[in-house]
Amino acid sequence: MQAPAEIGSFEVVMKTVIYYFTGTGNSLAAAKKVAGSLGDTELVPIAAFRNATGEIRPDAERIGIVCPVYFSGLPAMVESFAERLDLALADYVFSVVTHGGGGGSAALRQLDGVLGERGGRGLDAGFAVRMPGNYILMYGSPAGEKRDRLLAAAGAELEAIAGRIRQGERVKLPNSPVARLVKAIMYPRFRSRVHGDDRKFTVSEACTSCGTCASICPAGNIEIIDGRPVWNHRCELCCGCIHLCPAEAIQAGKRTEGRQRYRHPDLTIVDWRRSGEDELRE
Ligand SMILES: Cc1cc2nc3c(=O)[nH]c(=O)nc-3n(C[C@H](O)[C@H](O)[C@H](O)COP(=O)(O)O)c2cc1C
Repeated sequence: MQAPAEIGSFEVVMKTVIYYFTGTGNSLAAAKKVAGSLGDTELVPIAAFRNATGEIRPDAERIGIVCPVYFSGLPAMVESFAERLDLALADYVFSVVTHGGGGGSAALRQLDGVLGERGGRGLDAGFAVRMPGNYILMYGSPAGEKRDRLLAAAGAELEAIAGRIRQGERVKLPNSPVARLVKAIMYPRFRSRVHGDDRKFTVSEACTSCGTCASICPAGNIEIIDGRPVWNHRCELCCGCIHLCPAEAIQAGKRTEGRQRYRHPDLTIVDWRRSGEDELRE
């Protein structure tokens, strides 16, 4: 069923495409929530474009990009994707970034800049939503009541955001000098080494050779060789393999041992497999 967008007293039916990138499911769950409220929405994994080159021209009037915040900026794959996105035919472009506590404004501004540079058309609206943090190389993810509280608050916020998108509201991007400063310091270092950061990853004897890590990796970076994962240095550092391993057999050195794992509780592994090889696009 198509959901109407209200513009003044008119109701306009709009087709929407939401492109998403996710490691542990927050951004996919957020994209699904918004899609459910907009109606007539196609959800497309950004990972499906990872091997392709050339322009991406969506066939929809309303375009969304939903992804996590990494070091107050965008995941590398999302930036490359945005550089190829031709939005000439779009009436309304929005983004929702999910984060564990800060940096959303700088990531949204990065996306706005990339889109603007390409086609002179940036974001009409941008939103940053706090969800459970998943950067397990630095901390364990929240669990129990704390996790549930964060998710409940995010759910309510996303509901309100979806309403604003439905109305076609133009939303000025948030601005935070602190986030800009943090990004200026942290992001270039992250980007210069991200693909090789998988050299820190190891697998223990607890590995059952189930292949979950390879099947959920948005970068297609993991091969199972002799029953064990091997990382091929195209890592996005989404930490999905560490968090989603059912045996907790994947570590990034000693520091991740015993740290709380996380995956969005509304999703199952099947949701990740949609971003797998069979979905790759030209
Ligand atoms: C490499 C990396 C860097 C991150 N950097 C930030 C950050 O700068 N600020 C923040 O609030 N959260 C940060 N996070 C947490 C994620 O943005 C947050 O948990 C997000 O909701 C995860 O989305 P996902 O489940 O769709 O992968 C980072 C996570 C990773 C893996």
